[in-house]
Amino acid sequence: MSRATLLLSLLAVLSSCDRSKIDETKWKEAGAEAVLPFKKNLKQALVAGLEDGPVEAVSVCRLEAPKLAEAQSRGGVKVGRASQKLRNPSNAPKPWMQPFLQVYETDPERREPGVVLIDDKTVGYVEPIFVQPLCVTCHGAELAPDLKAKIGELYPEDQATGYAAGDLRGVFWVELPRE
Ligand code: HEC
Repeated sequence: MSRATLLLSLLAVLSSCDRSKIDETKWKEAGAEAVLPFKKNLKQALVAGLEDGPVEAVSVCRLEAPKLAEAQSRGGVKVGRASQKLRNPSNAPKPWMQPFLQVYETDPERREPGVVLIDDKTVGYVEPIFVQPLCVTCHGAELAPDLKAKIGELYPEDQATGYAAGDLRGVFWVELPRE
């Protein structure tokens, strides 16, 4: 074994003893995997809902989004969405997500997924959500009058409008048990 390899393996042993450090690559993979079905099902529900028109799709989204998040949250894993400009206040970011949201909001160069040790038992994962052209129907600057009325009725405190395609909309998040 060369000195360099020896040094590297020593370092590996040392860092694996440090409980405050996590294997970022491993947890990023686990986070991305856990959030994938939620993303897919949500998009599917949205696209299917939009076939009956955006007003109808709002109701679908309102009912399906929390259900899908719930369904994907098992075995101690929790998934969800959060944003700094909310439509549904129950999607408010938890304290551990705030630093990521702040970085994503302020630095367009740093938009890669992130992981953090929330506490001894839990790792948090986030990935940014960007506005696509189809999102603008319900999150853009100009909403159709009937759609605007419907959203206003269901979400009187709605802040999630004024977006353009390519904007950062928020994050998908996952809480993963460490064991
Ligand atoms: C048919 C209208 C509609 C379309 C199209 C739509 N959304 Fe939404 N969006 C909603 C509604 C309604 C909610 C609130 C859901 C709830 O009550 O949980 C929401 C909530 C969200 C949230 C959660 C944070 C919050 O503000 O509550 C994110 C993130 C989000 N939308 C992103 C997107 C993205 C990205 C797209 C495009 C892929 C999109 N939306 C397309 C209606 C829509």
